[in-house]
Amino acid sequence: MKIGVIGLGIMGSGIAQLSATSGHDVIVTDVSKAFYDRAVVSMGKSLDKLIEKKVINQDKGKILSRIVYADDLKEFSGCDIVIEAVVENQKEKIEFFKKIESIVSPDSIISSNTSSISITALGASLKDPSRFLGIHFFNPVALMNLIELIKGVKTSQQAVDRAIEFAKSVGKEFVVVNDSPGFVTTRVIAMLVNEGAFEYSEGLASKEDIDKALKLGGNFPMGPLTLGDLIGWDTVVNIMDIMYNSYKDPKFRAAPILRKMVEAGKLGRKSGEGFYKY
Ligand SMILES: NC(=O)c1ccc[n+]([C@@H]2O[C@H](COP(=O)([O-])OP(=O)(O)OC[C@H]3O[C@@H](n4cnc5c(N)ncnc54)[C@H](O)[C@@H]3O)[C@@H](O)[C@H]2O)c1
Repeated sequence: MKIGVIGLGIMGSGIAQLSATSGHDVIVTDVSKAFYDRAVVSMGKSLDKLIEKKVINQDKGKILSRIVYADDLKEFSGCDIVIEAVVENQKEKIEFFKKIESIVSPDSIISSNTSSISITALGASLKDPSRFLGIHFFNPVALMNLIELIKGVKTSQQAVDRAIEFAKSVGKEFVVVNDSPGFVTTRVIAMLVNEGAFEYSEGLASKEDIDKALKLGGNFPMGPLTLGDLIGWDTVVNIMDIMYNSYKDPKFRAAPILRKMVEAGKLGRKSGEGFYKY
């Protein structure tokens, strides 16, 4: 298949890398080629680790050569599936869907890796919303075994079937779920990391002890503050705001400490500092 990926941050670069590792041709774009150069470095490091741990047995150069950068979305014309992974902002995402629909063939699939935005609302920006669905990967894409496929109200079964075919081709498990902000996964995961931030700001324990308590007491692979550092706190705040505004339920309010951290640029791993330093 030919896969198009829009946005080469944490998730887009992971999706591009996984698709290329699975033998697909991948075309990618971001605001400038500098983001592609940065992504090539991070994908290279990730591939080195996967090869060293014998998770994959392929030539790194060959995998990376399948990932081509395009400045112009017109070059996405031959894509079978386009996956958008830009920032968690409905307006920004919709701009791409409108443009991409006029470029790719009518039987190709257009999708978003959004963590929380209504798939039905995003799909409504297209002339043909039946071709649109959520293809939601998890971080880090190379290691996390699930893809959550989200059906908007107008998503066709044909689009779901094509996405299932893609999920199988990249070797992931999948679940197909109905649309609701945050879907099945993010709705719980974002609440967990947000609540950890509230616990910290209320002085219940040190950050290390909050993480240790949840890790050992809940049998999670990592505590909420380490997980939020991995996701990116700007993304977490955007997700909480989207769920708060969608459900009109105060249980989805973002912890105020997180807004301060975002204002200070303490986004987590991707900026070098969140609750911890990297
Ligand atoms: N971080 C996670 O753990 C995670 C997990 C699952 C899903 N998601 C979702 O994936 C999406 C991307 O998240 P991320 O963590 O990769 O974010 P990120 O901030 O790491 O990357 C976003 C990328 O989009 C690019 N971008 C922004 N505006 C653009 C534009 N106009 N044109 C082209 N590129 C543009 C940015 O330059 C950046 O490279 C979001 O919708 C997020 O909710 C994130």
